[in-house]
Amino acid sequence: MTHLGVLIGCGFFATNHLHAWAEIPNVDIVAVCDLDEKKARATASRFGIEKAYTDAAEMVAAEAPDFVDIATTAASHRTLVEMAAPHTRLLICQKPMANTLADAEAMVAATDQAGTTLLIHENFRWQRPFQEIARRIAAGELGNIHFARFSFRHSYDNYANQPYLAQIERFALMDVGLHLFDLTRHLVGEATTLSCRTQRLNPDVNGEDAFTVIVGHAGGATSVLDCSFFSKLTPHRFPQTTAWIEGDRGTIDLDEEYRMTVHGPSGRKTYDVEAAVPGWGEKPWHVVGDSVVAFQRHAVAVLEGRAEPRPSGAHNVKTLAMALAAYEAAAANTVIDLDRWKEAR
Ligand SMILES: NC(=O)c1ccc[n+]([C@@H]2O[C@H](COP(=O)([O-])OP(=O)(O)OC[C@H]3O[C@@H](n4cnc5c(N)ncnc54)[C@H](O)[C@@H]3O)[C@@H](O)[C@H]2O)c1
Repeated sequence: MTHLGVLIGCGFFATNHLHAWAEIPNVDIVAVCDLDEKKARATASRFGIEKAYTDAAEMVAAEAPDFVDIATTAASHRTLVEMAAPHTRLLICQKPMANTLADAEAMVAATDQAGTTLLIHENFRWQRPFQEIARRIAAGELGNIHFARFSFRHSYDNYANQPYLAQIERFALMDVGLHLFDLTRHLVGEATTLSCRTQRLNPDVNGEDAFTVIVGHAGGATSVLDCSFFSKLTPHRFPQTTAWIEGDRGTIDLDEEYRMTVHGPSGRKTYDVEAAVPGWGEKPWHVVGDSVVAFQRHAVAVLEGRAEPRPSGAHNVKTLAMALAAYEAAAANTVIDLDRWKEAR
C-alpha cells in the first residue's frame, strides 16, 4: 500500500526529508508547498513531484494526504498543525515543536481532538550510534545507569545554511539543546530537575551559542549536556555528538569518528558505529541523512500501526519544557524542579 504525503516548507532541511522519502518504496510525496512560489516549484521539479502550492491549507484540502510533513521553522508549527489535523492521519512536525509551551500544548490538543497522530521530527535518537546505544541499554549491558554526558561542540559555520540561527535570541538550547534533552530522556530516563549556564561566545550571534546543563533523573542518575558552536577544533567535528554513559555493569564511550567503546565485566571492546552514507548524501552529513531515513521509516511504521510515535507530540512537550526551563535556570542561577515549574505556569 502506498502512503500519499505532502510537505510544507521547502527550505534548507526539507531537502533531507525529500531525499529520504524518495528512498522509502511505499511513500509518494504528491505535493509540496512554500510561501515562496519559486522555492516550491524548484523543489517539486528537483524531486519529480507533481504539484507545488503556496497555500498549505489549499494543498491539504485538495490532496487529502495520508500524512503531512511540516519542515518549516517553529513560529508556523501551531497554525499548520491546527489547520491540517482534521485532514490527515499523521502529522510530522520538525523540532522545535513550538516556541512556547502554550503553542505546543495546543498542538497536542488539536491532534487529539482530530484523532490524528502527532510525531515530532526529532532525529538524533534515530542516529545510528544512538540506536546502537539504546539497543545495548535495553539489553541490560550497562545495568542501572547513574551518569551520562552528551556533548556537541564544534565551530562549523552553521549560519551559512541557516542564517536565522544567528538572529534568534534563543539559539543553542532551542536548537541542539532540544536534541540533547530528547536523547537524555530517551536513554537515561525521565528528567526531574535541571540547572544551566549559557554563554554567548561568538559576537556575531544574537543568542547563546553555548550551554552546559546538569539534569537530575527520576531514579537518581545525573546527566551533563554541553554544547558549543564556538569550539575551535580541527577538523570542526560537526555534526557529531559524543557521549559517555555509565551504569553499574559497564560504560559506553562514544568518541569522535564514531568509535564506540563498551566497557563490561569481561573487558572492553571498540566498535565502528558510523552511519552509512546515503546514495544522495556525503560525509560528514551522513549521520544526519541516515537518521532522517531511519526516522521517516519509523513514521511509515506509525502510519501502518506497527509502532507508537517516537517521540510523540505529548512526549516532546516535556523536552521543550526543559529547554524553556533551562533559560530560567540560567537567568536565576538556580536548580529547577521540572514538574513544579510546569505546574506553576
Ligand atoms: N532535525 C534536524 O537535525 C534539523 C536540522 C536543521 C533544521 N531543522 C529544523 O527544520 C526546520 C526548518 O529549518 P530550515 O533550516 O530548513 O529553515 P528554512 O528557513 O531554510 O526553511 C523553511 C521554509 O519554510 C517556508 N515556510 C514558512 N512558513 C510557511 C508556511 N506557513 N507555509 C509554507 N511554507 C512556509 C519558508 O518560506 C522556508 O522556505 C526548523 O524548525 C529547524 O530547527 C532540523
